[in-house]
Amino acid sequence: MRRRRPLFAANWKMHKSPQEARAYVTAFLPEAESLVASVDIVLLAPFIDLECVCDALSGSTIGFGAQDCFWEREGAFTGEVSASMLKKIGCSHCVVGHSERRRLFGDTDETVGRKVTALLAEDITPIVCVGESLDENRAGRTAERVQEQLRAGLGYLSDAERAVLVIAYEPVWAIGTGLADNPKSANNTIQTIRSAAGGLGEARILYGGSMTAENSAAFCAESDIDGGLVGSASLDPNKFVRLIASATQVFDAR
Ligand code: 13P
Repeated sequence: MRRRRPLFAANWKMHKSPQEARAYVTAFLPEAESLVASVDIVLLAPFIDLECVCDALSGSTIGFGAQDCFWEREGAFTGEVSASMLKKIGCSHCVVGHSERRRLFGDTDETVGRKVTALLAEDITPIVCVGESLDENRAGRTAERVQEQLRAGLGYLSDAERAVLVIAYEPVWAIGTGLADNPKSANNTIQTIRSAAGGLGEARILYGGSMTAENSAAFCAESDIDGGLVGSASLDPNKFVRLIASATQVFDAR
């Protein structure tokens, strides 16, 4: 089987002005350039930062992208940004279905699916988030819940389309809490995800939820975890570099 290339994505969420974003990239680049020989790195920034990030990253192979998009190309959709606009500014990736958007902004499996279709049409890689709540986890419904999200959101895609997706397994209870999942249990869930929909054997599947420089190697030592979607620990460029560097060593060994 083709070896999946590791990927680390920084989800800055609602942090950083354009000036701060530029300063981040300036500090991050010299350290990160040595890592991109073995892993892909993507910075997922607020919309207003994208132009600055694009400019600051120019000449580098580090990608950048947005944290959400709308599925129509253009029109009377106040406050929205389309996949086609993201393409024009140079985005390579875009997060869809993050649990914060599902919980606070009404995203559903159906709207996630529409966003995925719009992104694929623009040749932007969707990073599709799935994950169970604490109640679902305690009730032993983790596998069922993530399979449900995948079926409803991605069930209509072809195998070839599914193979280019990135899936992020983010247990909702592990996000921003400091309580990361156990790497073995995350790997089990990710294996379930991989086998759930036919074409996910080749897709990269990341773990997200309180990943840090201290635990990234333990997650990435697991057979099916291809990297991380990182919130808090990606906000400081040095911390994010350390997180990636420590995980990078274990990929070769597995
Ligand atoms: P934390 O790394 O802050 O737990 O956030 C994870 C996340 O939601 C990434 O999308």
